[in-house]
Amino acid sequence: PDARKKLVAGNWKMNGLAASAPEFVRIVGAYQGAMKSGVDLMVFPPFTLLTSFATATRGAGVGVGAQDCHAKASGAHTGDVSAEMIADAGGQAVIVGHSERRADHGETDADVCAKAEAARRAGLVAVVCVGETREQREAGDARKVVGGQLAGSLPDNADADHVVVAYEPVWAIGTGLTPTVDEVAEMHGFIRGELSNRFGPDGAAIRVLYGGSVKPDNAKELLAAADVDGALVGGASLKADDFLAIAKAAI
Ligand code: G3P
Repeated sequence: PDARKKLVAGNWKMNGLAASAPEFVRIVGAYQGAMKSGVDLMVFPPFTLLTSFATATRGAGVGVGAQDCHAKASGAHTGDVSAEMIADAGGQAVIVGHSERRADHGETDADVCAKAEAARRAGLVAVVCVGETREQREAGDARKVVGGQLAGSLPDNADADHVVVAYEPVWAIGTGLTPTVDEVAEMHGFIRGELSNRFGPDGAAIRVLYGGSVKPDNAKELLAAADVDGALVGGASLKADDFLAIAKAAI
């Protein structure tokens, strides 16, 4: 029996304006409120919408989080937002180490690890992203890369209450390409093994999401792959109906 309840999370990236929150929550919240559970749902809007999403989702059974945080709690860091501020705005989680941040902002595994620790300090769940590039996969290095990212990005005290891992192969993000179900199961099995080896039973309980071109029409098979505990959805999470279709595919 798999005790890891599936989690479907929407990463809105740099998308969404003020009108987005009530509409999304009306559709997704109505479903989740009525369902009371088969799947956990979360949405990660841009910082500008965090409070309105947190307010709109109150009581709707939909979690809210941010897409990044600074490692420090406060200070002279113009433009940055701390984990404490995210919690204060009503967030329960934060994505750290997304490949777009690793690429656009040069974030290292050590940076990501510090952010995951900051999340825990602030009482947030850290969704820690890992994933290889196309070149790395073609060179046969996918496991080595992902294993290294896990080793460097996860704090020593990681456990299921504070950490979710998202495996997002970089070449599958926003491209419409996905690994085969077998390839997904293979990598998730590898990640599961790494988590269990390092963290024991605590690691065995950490959820591992798949991300990269998850859509309503491929969600069922990806979510049914061995060791896949949910999905981190980008583009398809922007439309509440598509996001809901993916959520239903998780049950
Ligand atoms: O974090 C989710 C993401 O990177 C996947 O994006 O648009 O391929 O679903 P997308």
